[in-house]
Amino acid sequence: MSTKTDRDFRPFMHFTPKYGWINDPNGLTYENGTWHLFAQYNPDEPVWGPMHWLHATSTDLLHWTEHGVALAPDSLGMIFSGSAVIDHGNTSGLGRDGDPMVLIYTSHGEHEQQSIAFSDDRFHFTPYAGNPVIPNTEKRNFRDPKVFRNPIRNCWTMVLAAGDRAEFYASQDLIHWTKTGDFGSKENHLNGVFECTDLFPLPSPDGSEVWVLLASMALHPEFGGGRMQYFLGRFDGDTFIQDEPHSPYILDSGYDNYAAVTFFGAEKRIMIGWGSSPGYAPFAPTGDFCCLMTYARELSLVQTDSGLRLASKPITPSFELTEIVRETAPENLRFPHKYVPKASGSLPGELFCIHVEADEAFDLMLSNETGEELHVLISDEQKLVVDRTRAGLRNFSPFYESGVCSVTSAPRTNYGKISLDLYFDRMFAEIFTDNGTVLNSSMVFPEKPYQTATLTGHGKMWIGCPQR
Ligand code: FRU
Repeated sequence: MSTKTDRDFRPFMHFTPKYGWINDPNGLTYENGTWHLFAQYNPDEPVWGPMHWLHATSTDLLHWTEHGVALAPDSLGMIFSGSAVIDHGNTSGLGRDGDPMVLIYTSHGEHEQQSIAFSDDRFHFTPYAGNPVIPNTEKRNFRDPKVFRNPIRNCWTMVLAAGDRAEFYASQDLIHWTKTGDFGSKENHLNGVFECTDLFPLPSPDGSEVWVLLASMALHPEFGGGRMQYFLGRFDGDTFIQDEPHSPYILDSGYDNYAAVTFFGAEKRIMIGWGSSPGYAPFAPTGDFCCLMTYARELSLVQTDSGLRLASKPITPSFELTEIVRETAPENLRFPHKYVPKASGSLPGELFCIHVEADEAFDLMLSNETGEELHVLISDEQKLVVDRTRAGLRNFSPFYESGVCSVTSAPRTNYGKISLDLYFDRMFAEIFTDNGTVLNSSMVFPEKPYQTATLTGHGKMWIGCPQR
């Protein structure tokens, strides 16, 4: 099923493939001023298919240069998701000219097994002749290796999604791996298999170190979509131990931030996600390309009124903010206390941001002349609610059209003053509130560009125009 439209929905600043399909970000690596992004890729059609890795680089995480296919399906199968490291000290012995870049991925054939490939120049990759490095004939779901330097055991550690849990493996050379532990949880936000796990430490505001385990939860197909959850805890060098009682938490209340993982080699902890949902992405009405990556987001831990939470701060273009003045209240109001003010401003195109500050509930609406409306609100129940029921094209997918995907919400983590940022890029809205601990990433397909932003409620609104 697909909806025909002449509208060009290609985002201006978010990474999209020139042609074809992408899903998960893979092999995120930073080295000497260059950010490497790889992605699950079907070069032949804008739908999921024989998975390759596409390669792109950037020096600012905003402007990307596409370099074509890095890895193509081979006799072990398709190239499913994974990670990359710079092998400092050439522990693998695979570098012929200094420290190689090593890609660690899942070979998806009859079975899911872990394989590696290496590169001296960072642009041409050779699969290792001894693949797979972690063979498997038993487990059905056994994929998405994320490798990092283990500071406790001074070795490489891999976190791998294995059915209803994450497994941990250690290695001295990226070639020989031994299982060291696993982590599963009775409490998951969704029933489904773990996918694209990631594990990393972050400083907590109290000065301690807290480890964060990210897990994308693939839902059973009948539910159509997936969501990301995260756990807070510690890593003893072999396995992850969850802090009691609280986590897991939902990472993003929108459906369009999945399989997000973080960069190897960067000083800050930077994450990128697939800006879509497995449930409806293949049907998105975007023509020659399908899917995008989210803005990169810097992660930190913050203390909220509800406890310790993971916070995301997006890396975006610079915007020049203009405050939109509220309309004045009509005179002689019969019930002045019931008067709800409005502020309305014109949008500067299809790439913009909106900032709102308020003390109480409000409704922020983006709209166009055809009556399409995207609503972002803080409800009286202290929830961030995103309602795309009338935001644009919907009938390309029954799941996208369904109530569960049309209106998404998340409880706030802070009570009191609200500060909300919305970043919009043609067909993608990314919303951050409560210091970046409450998020919503949502694809929308307005048939005409939104022209107006309207804030209903006692708050202040600024519209941001991209700086040249
Ligand atoms: C997540 C995922 C991964 C897998 C890849 C295949 O979206 O299902 O688990 O490696 O996509 O494209």
